[in-house]
Amino acid sequence: MNTSETLQAKIGPSILNSDLSRLADECEKMMKSGADYLHLDVMDGHFVPNLTFGHPVVAALKPKFKDVFFDMHMMVAKPTRWIEEMAGAGAEQYTFHIETVGDSGAGDVIRKIKEAGMKAGIAVKPKTDVSVIFPYLQDVDMVLIMTVEPGFGGQSFMADMLPKVKAVREKYLHLDIEVDGGVSPANIDECASAGANMIVSGSAVVRSDDPASVISKLKESVNRFVNVQ
Ligand code: DX5
Ligand code: ZN
Repeated sequence: MNTSETLQAKIGPSILNSDLSRLADECEKMMKSGADYLHLDVMDGHFVPNLTFGHPVVAALKPKFKDVFFDMHMMVAKPTRWIEEMAGAGAEQYTFHIETVGDSGAGDVIRKIKEAGMKAGIAVKPKTDVSVIFPYLQDVDMVLIMTVEPGFGGQSFMADMLPKVKAVREKYLHLDIEVDGGVSPANIDECASAGANMIVSGSAVVRSDDPASVISKLKESVNRFVNVQ
């Protein structure tokens, strides 16, 4: 858990919908545009009906981005399977979905992620009740509330997921809460006022002609809301 007294506004572009033939250049562009971290979407074709990339791509990118925080969003059916490989590839944070583990399995996954030297995140899909993650919030570094069905970039934002953000924020004032899916300047105030402080934005940032201005709008909004309780 983030034990600092103040929450930080952080913007993490998802590079899923960027020009993947120029992945390193696209990542570089995001960091030069003011991104605080990179959100990397790993999909295995089982947990979600889509495939992206795995630890070899992360390992190839990391030497070019040594100081950049790699936030791995693991949309995979067997999260434990990839912990060692992702840690070895240089990932800083490993977020798994609660839907992939049994009732008592999440604690074990969190422990293994930390033993491998990464921060641990726990994610919930739209149809999953947020209360299922409550037993683990003391142990994780971040909660990810999905605001689309995981699997594809460019979907419409689901505002009805924001009560989940509020429910977690009411319990934990200093825990990092990330939202992911369809987030843009059009809905950032809703996300930030609900309590999200880590903002993933894919298409709205990477498809913009002016990503720096989109990132700065997102950050300005979150900064207005964080630590105002
Ligand atoms: C969806 C991914 C998201 C997505 C974000 O499964 O987890 O990170 O790529 O992209 P946008 O902002 O376009 O929804
Ligand atoms: Zn994601």
